[in-house]
Formats: sequence, structure tokens, C-alpha cells
Amino acid sequence: MLNALSKMFFLLLGIAMLWCGHSTLAAEDTGWNLQMTNAAELWRTPSKAESLTFSSDKKSRPKAVYNTSRTSRPVVALTFDDGPHGVLTPKLLDILRDAHVRATFFVLGSNVSAYPDIARRIVAEGHEIASHSWSHPSLTKVSAGRFEHEIRDTTDIIERTTGQRVTMMRPPYGALNHRVTKALLEDYQLDVILWDVDPLDWRRPGSDAITRRLVSGAHPGAILLAHDIHPGTIAAIPATIAQLKAKGFSFATVSELLAMDEPTLQKSPMQKKPDAPSISVSGSIPAPEENGKSIPQRVDAEAHKVAE
Ligand code: NI
Repeated sequence: MLNALSKMFFLLLGIAMLWCGHSTLAAEDTGWNLQMTNAAELWRTPSKAESLTFSSDKKSRPKAVYNTSRTSRPVVALTFDDGPHGVLTPKLLDILRDAHVRATFFVLGSNVSAYPDIARRIVAEGHEIASHSWSHPSLTKVSAGRFEHEIRDTTDIIERTTGQRVTMMRPPYGALNHRVTKALLEDYQLDVILWDVDPLDWRRPGSDAITRRLVSGAHPGAILLAHDIHPGTIAAIPATIAQLKAKGFSFATVSELLAMDEPTLQKSPMQKKPDAPSISVSGSIPAPEENGKSIPQRVDAEAHKVAE
């Protein structure tokens, strides 16, 4: 009898081990989703927050560098860098709220630390928040330790402060090389978001010029660059939104815009802006910088002072 019981025990143990082995293998094949499903089935129904947090990336597409979204739909993404600013960002949020427009904010970790309430307001009002480093260095020129601080601590403070997961990073000045790009995409699992319409608002050309440049540069799938630390930029946004709406454009966050990306859709030459960074939407990693030119070094375009 004892012998029969122990045989039964080992038989059950064997079945359990086989099941676990199969489960682990399947989980490796499909990433997070199966593991979450198993856990949820066994223990509880997943909350809405969990499904939002874990459902998206691995299954849908690899991390990549983007400067635009290839779509024929008349949708653009307004993006604002370098904030939150204590005075100007709340003004901008008022404008966006009144116009029913959602945007994407590439924030500095240092400014989230200084203005946590504004960071929370950005998310509470439906905008997307993403990383622009902690203190705005050129990531191609910092030590490994500093790089780690710039990326990890910024992700941490944004997530801790706002509860929104960070999935995207815009490198200061658009400065990238092979090493930085590979680290962001692979080690930190962040999409790298550049832009394809740059009004050079940091040069403070006046709000009319900023509006004119943003509106004339807009095309389906465009990622529009601006900075919510300059008064002229904030002043330009109501007319910019009104004129883009009049031309038939609607607005999306960068994540929403990327979800519309159709890799098979080629941009026509008319849609290619002369000031666009040379890299196209791609999952590949740019060539190493030691062999001649590295990928877009937009140091000139965003060489603004971060200090307010
Ligand atoms: Ni910047």
C-alpha cells in the first residue's frame, strides 16, 4: 500500500514537472503574455492596470528608432521637450485641454523631481509622458555610470511619480551612436523617438514663425517637435492647433501614432522634409560611428540651454 502511494506520488510529481517544463518553454516563446495569463488564471483576474502594463510591447513589435510614422491617415503627434516647466507647462496644459488635444511630453527627470504635481497633471489629462534623460547631456559623451543614471533614474521617477510606464526615450539633441542606440533599444527596452518637423523654436523666432513652420511641415504621421520651456512656443500652440485642424489633421500621442505605422507604406518624396533626420523608421540598429558618419546628430537643431 505504501509502495503504491509512493509510486502515485512520483507519477504525479513527474506530470507536474512535465507541465512546468512545457509552460516555461511556451512562456519563452511568447514573452510576457503567457506568463501573465497563467498567473492570472491560477490566482486572480488581472486588473485593468496589469493588462495595460504588460500587454503591449513584446508581442507587437521590436523596439526601434522612429522619426515619423508611415501612415496615410491625417494624424500628427505634438511633442514637447525639456519640461515640465513650473509656469509654462501648466499654461500649455490649459491650452491642450481647451482644444481637446493630447500630446506627448519628453520630460527631464530633474524637472519631474522639481514639479511632480505638473508631471501627474500631464498624465491625468490624458497625455503621454516619456524620457528625455535626467539632465540633458549628449548621451554619446557621457560615462557608462552617468548614462545609467540618465536613463534609469528618469524612468524610475516618471513611473513612481505618475504611474505611467515609460516606453520611449528622446535623446537630448537627437544625439545617438551605435552604442547608445543599442543600449536604449535592447538594454532598456525603449523606443527611440526623434522627429521630422522641427520649428527651431529654441531660437525664439516668434510665435508666428513657430506656427508657420509646424503647420507647413505637417504631413500624415508627422512627429512635431517643440519645447514647453519657451514662452513663444506656448503662445504659438493655439494657432498651430487651429490651423492643423483646419487642414484636416487630428492629433495622437506618439504611441498611438506608432501603432498606425505601416512598414510597407513608402513616404512619397513630397512628404520627406529637407530638415528631417536621415534615419527612417526601422527596427535595425544604426551603423557604428567609427566608420565615418553616425546617425543623425541634431546637435545644431536642439542646442538650446535647458536652464530656465
Ligand atoms: Ni531637449
